[in-house]
Amino acid sequence: MPHEARNFDHLLGKGILSDNQLKQHFTLYQGYVKKINEIEEKLGKTDNSAANYSFNEYSELKRREPVPFNGTYLHELYFENLVGPGAQPSDALKKAATDSFGTWDDFIKDARAAGTSTTGWVLTTRSRVDGKLHNYICYEHHLNIPVHQDIVMALDCWEHAFMIDFGIKKADYFDAFFKNVDWKMVSSRLDKYSKYTR
Ligand SMILES: [Fe+2]
Repeated sequence: MPHEARNFDHLLGKGILSDNQLKQHFTLYQGYVKKINEIEEKLGKTDNSAANYSFNEYSELKRREPVPFNGTYLHELYFENLVGPGAQPSDALKKAATDSFGTWDDFIKDARAAGTSTTGWVLTTRSRVDGKLHNYICYEHHLNIPVHQDIVMALDCWEHAFMIDFGIKKADYFDAFFKNVDWKMVSSRLDKYSKYTR
């Protein structure tokens, strides 16, 4: 079944990121949705009997399949948790952050440091291994993602996410993000995943 781009226009006009910044980001996201549909359609028609590590059409499609797939669904996680003015973290989220990082401020500090360390994504996860929160970084959309993780917060650190509004001032982008992140959404994800074990 084809993947469908969701509409995130409700984020426009909130003043956290400019409409121009957001609209260009939406267009980029929609491009990933088109590409995952294209790859899945081609995989359905491509002969896999001559798959090859060096080069083969089927093999290349398989190598790129996770890029637009994660490009689609990581962006949805990000847009979902981007703007929640006034939203407060649940007691469970505050406890998880404290248990995992020492204090809430240490959690935010670590997430920002993680973001400074990557040109890709910060994924705050609840690990099925130890039940704690972790700030992992990944590159592009498909590299460096650990197993046994459920994503509770996604922070897009690609330059396209902030260059229009903040230039190279990534720290200012993080200021804006953490002032406005939808902690209610992040809390609800943690609640949903909290029973999972590996
Ligand atoms: Fe992005």
